[in-house]
Amino acid sequence: MATDHRRKRAATVEVVQRYRRPARWFHAGIYVSVLIVAFTGWWLLAGQEGRASPLAVLAGMPDISLHKLVGWILAGLGLAGVLAGARGVPSFVSESARLRRSELGWFVRWPAAVFTGRFGWHQGRFDPGQRFLNITLILGLVVLVGTGAGLVAVHGGPTFVVLALVHKWTTYPVTGLIAGHILVASGVLPGYRGVWRSMHFGGRLHASVARRLWPAWSRDSLERQPEPGEGTHD
Ligand code: HEM
Repeated sequence: MATDHRRKRAATVEVVQRYRRPARWFHAGIYVSVLIVAFTGWWLLAGQEGRASPLAVLAGMPDISLHKLVGWILAGLGLAGVLAGARGVPSFVSESARLRRSELGWFVRWPAAVFTGRFGWHQGRFDPGQRFLNITLILGLVVLVGTGAGLVAVHGGPTFVVLALVHKWTTYPVTGLIAGHILVASGVLPGYRGVWRSMHFGGRLHASVARRLWPAWSRDSLERQPEPGEGTHD
């Protein structure tokens, strides 16, 4: 009886596909490795090199080795993702780098909208805040991975000192961006409730959430959605 009721409800809830399986697995791989690298990096930065962190104990290696190993995995994943998704890269970049005058109001309404859900209008797949995150976070991660690789390759001298400084000072803004992204994308803030579904499990979220966050994109994609029964394959 309860199952019937749930099934009926699921059939009437309008959903929209946001991310497909390859993008979701890529995102998960990046975030697991970024979280490990960030945790071990902060552990070392806090002067705990002499004590093994819980992650290092779990991995059976010192924090610095784990930090470097997962750093290489992150670099490899990033490169593989760019190569495998090469066709999507230009549109991701152009969607993220564009800001129209008519979208400036989005920023004005944003602080309140985080709580009320009444976001300003914007075009495109990403809201202006996501576009800012896409560019700054990806650039930040590229700098961290690049300077990290440099630190492994160079042994001492002025280049090492500069690389170490850039690596360390990039850590602070990137940590802030990641914390902000997790806060927003987890959906704990009322305005962003339900958004986490776009990147997890089936990558489908309620159409009402999509309309609230990405009005133009949701209108276009709802028009393209298959009829019920046609099925949406990941
Ligand atoms: C820690 C490293 C992480 C990195 C580097 C990262 C990076 C990204 C990037 C670049 C995007 C692209 C679109 C956008 O700007 O929203 C994205 C989307 C997304 N992320 Fe993350 N992410 C991380 C962690 C997480 C975590 C822990 C969650 C869990 C809640 C999460 C949930 C999401 C969701 C739901 C989206 C899709 C938003 C949409 O539908 O546009 N992310 N992430």
